[in-house]
Order: sequence, then structure tokens, then C-alpha cells
Amino acid sequence: MDVPEEIVALARRARRVTVLTGAGMSAESGVATFRDAQTGLWARFDPAQLATADAFRRDPALVFGWYAWRYAQARSVAPNAGHRALADWARIAEVRIVTQNVDDLHERAGSTVLAHLHGSLAAFRCFACDRPYAGPVPDAAGADGRVEPPRCAACGGPVRPGVVWFGEALPARAFADGVQACRDADLVLVVGTSGLVYPAAGLPEVAAAEGVPTVELNPEPTPLSRKVDHTWRTTAAVGLPALVAALAR
Ligand code: OAD
Repeated sequence: MDVPEEIVALARRARRVTVLTGAGMSAESGVATFRDAQTGLWARFDPAQLATADAFRRDPALVFGWYAWRYAQARSVAPNAGHRALADWARIAEVRIVTQNVDDLHERAGSTVLAHLHGSLAAFRCFACDRPYAGPVPDAAGADGRVEPPRCAACGGPVRPGVVWFGEALPARAFADGVQACRDADLVLVVGTSGLVYPAAGLPEVAAAEGVPTVELNPEPTPLSRKVDHTWRTTAAVGLPALVAALAR
């Protein structure tokens, strides 16, 4: 696979690389994205019914069942060659990963994730008192299966998934770390995000405002494509291993 020369040159020079990842990063592991036509989760499910605090108040078993299904799905798949390439790259450069993904595939590939901007599927906590929940997660009966949320050991409140829902603020520390990592990088790669969900989608512009070179890896054009310095129409599991291999040559 040919890697565009200008992208290899930028990557070779970069001591500090920040990689912003979205659902496309995990697509080749078998995790559905949100907005891809037909296969995307939001083509089959309504975010207003599943990904808001109001939805959880209205029907906790519906919402919890959907996240229990996604949690089980994420645990049943494996990191792909793109995740592994980022872990390999970290042996020769400082690689900071800022992800919108709620799976742990970067970590399971051997990377340390600087920021989970949208939380984590595994970080269940109490909806009432916010205490972390470490008990068992009931099995999901499929994407449409209802699962009663477990109860908080401390207050008896219903347990919710530790993801950021629509209308909720991003974890402040994670977002601040993401901004900083875009400001002081030598290169920012944007991998597999539609660039539609703010504030995460604003991070490439934070980098650009500081004069940090930006590169998008995505098989499809996005609103970010015209804001970055280079676009590369490739997938995460094809492009990233090719790029990291090219650094060694
Ligand atoms: P989207 O589903 O919106 O976008 C996925 C992007 O990945 C698209 O631009 C695809 O073209 C691209 N893509 C698909 N397959 C790919 C592959 N194999 N390699 C590289 N790119 C590929 O996902 P996000 O941008 O991550 O938020 O969505 C952002 C947020 O919206 C999510 O974090 C989630 C969702 O609502 C919350 O849950 C808070």
C-alpha cells in the first residue's frame, strides 16, 4: 500500500503525535459505527430513545439493555491492525490517543489512552449518587433486549453506563487533556470520525490554529476534510499499519 509521501514526511519528523479517533477506528474490529448508512447504529436506533438521561429516566431497562448489549459486543471483539499500529508507533515517538470511542480496544492493543472524551462502556456508575459500580453487569438479550439496571450498593439508585449522553458535558479533564494534546503536538491525525459531534469535532481546528499539521484518515469525505492539511482515503486497519511500516524504511 502506498502511503502519500507528504504524510510519511510529516510522521517521520513528528516526535509528538496526537491521534484523534472515532467509531471508524473500531469498525474493522466489528464494532458498528454510528452514522454509516445502513450499518451505523443511528440508522437502526433512535439516539433520543437510547442516549439521553431523559430516555434512561423514561425507560431504564430499554436503555440499560442496549448498553449491556454494546458492552458485551465490545468485549467479544479484538483490536485490529490499526489499533496495534498505534501501539507500535509509541515505541519510537510519543503517541497520545484522544478517542471518542467508549470501547477499550486501544488499551487492549497495548496503548495508553490519554482521553476518553465520551466516557467508557465499562465505567458503570450510579445514576443517583454517581458512585462507581463494580458489580456484575447482567447479560444482554440482544440489541433490543430489555435489562433492568443493577442497583447501587450505596444508595439503591439505578446503575447507568459511564458514557456521555447527548445533552451532557464531556468529562472536563479529558477534554482539557485533548485540547492540550492538539496544541503541543508536531502532528495530529484524525482517524475514523464523521466530525459532526462537538466539541470533539472542534479539536482538529484547535491544532490548526496553533499551526500543527493535521491529517485525516477516512475512507469517506467529512466536514473535517477541508479543514485539515491532508486527507488520505484509507481505513484505519489498512492505513495506520502502512504508515507505521513506512517510518521504519
Ligand atoms: P460516526 O459513525 O459518526 O462516523 C464514523 C466515521 O468513520 C465516518 O466518517 C466513516 O466514514 C468512518 N469510517 C468507517 N469505517 C472506517 C474505517 N474502517 N476506517 C476509518 N474510518 C472509517 O462516528 P463518530 O464520529 O465516532 O457519541 O461519532 C461521534 C460520536 O457520535 C460518538 O462518539 C457517539 C455518537 O453519537 C456519543 O455516544 C456521545
